[in-house]
Amino acid sequence: LKVPVLAINFKAYPTSFGVKALEIAKAAEKVAQEYGVEVIVIPPATELRKIVESVSIPVYAQHADPYEYGAYTGWLPVVALKDIGVRGILVNHSEHRLRLDEIVAIVEAAKKYGLETLVCADTPIAAAAIAAIKPVALAVEPPELIGTGIAVSKAKPEVITNTVQRVREVNKEVIILTGAGISTAEDVEAAIRLGTAGVLVASAIMKAQNPEKVIKDMAAVAKAAYK
Ligand code: G3P
Repeated sequence: LKVPVLAINFKAYPTSFGVKALEIAKAAEKVAQEYGVEVIVIPPATELRKIVESVSIPVYAQHADPYEYGAYTGWLPVVALKDIGVRGILVNHSEHRLRLDEIVAIVEAAKKYGLETLVCADTPIAAAAIAAIKPVALAVEPPELIGTGIAVSKAKPEVITNTVQRVREVNKEVIILTGAGISTAEDVEAAIRLGTAGVLVASAIMKAQNPEKVIKDMAAVAKAAYK
């Protein structure tokens, strides 16, 4: 992954599926090319193949299971994602929480197949624990601010600075992202000024009247703010 990063978690909004999802993914691709920012799209599993075939930016899955192909009804093997061209996996989102041993198994399976991982943490200490597993990226997201429109970078800047400090004690390379309530370009700028390499964002884009404009504004600021 390049930095700065704008990772768009589609979640499971009405806009996260079908034509609308594809439009948002294409808008993300256009903005990534225009601004030279790494824009990652993270659609639901049903949309992965279509979106992977339609855009050249990184496409991540919202979750995966550390299984090979086989008799695993209702599970989503990491290897199957690899084979359809998915670039990485979002792991341990607050809305899809896992135990530490499960996170380790998914990150290891992803490494085996050359997939990237972006692992979420709810606190600076959890972020440091996750950094020790060496994912490509991690995102700190205080759960109480998710979907509120109140940006962590404004409401709880100390969560970000503490995360950067604790994570860097154990891992110098992992890309650190800020998430929860990120609504405006200004919130993205604050996240970067506080020492992270970008944001993990959902509702501000998925619920926007004009998602492309929001992506563009955020990417422009990320590019300008990141040194
Ligand atoms: O994964 C990003 C997310 O949990 C933050 O959601 O809607 O506050 O941007 P939102």
